[in-house]
Amino acid sequence: MPAVSAHAPGKTILCGEHAVVYGQPAIAIPVTQVQAKAIVMANPRGSANQIRITAPDIQFDDYLENLPETHPIKQLLLKLQNLLQLSHFPAFDLKIHSTIPIASGMGSGAAVSVAIVRAVSTFLGCPMSNEQVSSLAFEAEKSYHGTPSGIDNTVITYARPIFFIRGQPFETLHVRQPLIFLIANSGIKSETATVVGEVRQAWQNDPNRYEALFHAIGTLTIQIRRRLERGPTEEIGSFLTANHQLLQELGVSCPELDELVNAALSAGAQGAKLTGAGRGGNILALVTEDTLAPISSALRAAGATNLYLTNLMPATNET
Ligand code: PMV
Repeated sequence: MPAVSAHAPGKTILCGEHAVVYGQPAIAIPVTQVQAKAIVMANPRGSANQIRITAPDIQFDDYLENLPETHPIKQLLLKLQNLLQLSHFPAFDLKIHSTIPIASGMGSGAAVSVAIVRAVSTFLGCPMSNEQVSSLAFEAEKSYHGTPSGIDNTVITYARPIFFIRGQPFETLHVRQPLIFLIANSGIKSETATVVGEVRQAWQNDPNRYEALFHAIGTLTIQIRRRLERGPTEEIGSFLTANHQLLQELGVSCPELDELVNAALSAGAQGAKLTGAGRGGNILALVTEDTLAPISSALRAAGATNLYLTNLMPATNET
């Protein structure tokens, strides 16, 4: 039997992170420059449930049965088995590759889950719908994140720009004009679950203040959506920067992210903000073809370890 492979892109959150956990809208876009890939190969000589999982990029090599019950990949495969009502899995080897930086807000966990569900379900002869893939990846996100909003698994499964409100069907965004976003990695790893937990604690201590901040972020997200869909796009940059200031007030930025945001703005970015959970990971900047080179240099000089580009194109959003 030939190997079956599937892949999934990374993602970045344009606006609305953290507030989205509390019911406010957020916008996320795929980053196809990075991706997770899962490859499944039958092992005809193996016994039932003998599943070898390798991830050469992180020197991981083990059998499913040896993983703790809490391991996200184990949970994912057991949920898949349950959904497919299989008494056991045939023996197979599952190889995972990913170019998505870990713990950086680019959705590496969700992308690995999506790629695994697609590859394994196809290998088993029961390919899943996007809805099923996203819902299984959401279950796995709970073991990475604790209380995820569901935005990561959704944007990564459907691989298109989305307007997302927790618990509601997402909407695909159709942008009016092409936009270029430059993503810069601070090189600082940050656990989403930790930062989301701290925001929750702060919200519990001072609900009025935090709900006002979440609401202000939600209002910006709606304004950004309107400008993306109908223009004028000139104001989007200042809304993104305003979103960063609100994230600073939430307490999820850090000096390194602020320095990257300031460097991008000083070098001519139309707007810049941290993206994802914060306290590390990435910032994104709205750039043009003309400002891309100077902003890239400024970001590297300010400590960016990696840069990624993602474009929003009107044509690619037509379904
Ligand atoms: O996975 P990250 O770091 O992009 O963060 C996800 C965004 C949050 O809003 C902080 C959490 C969530 O589940 O939506």
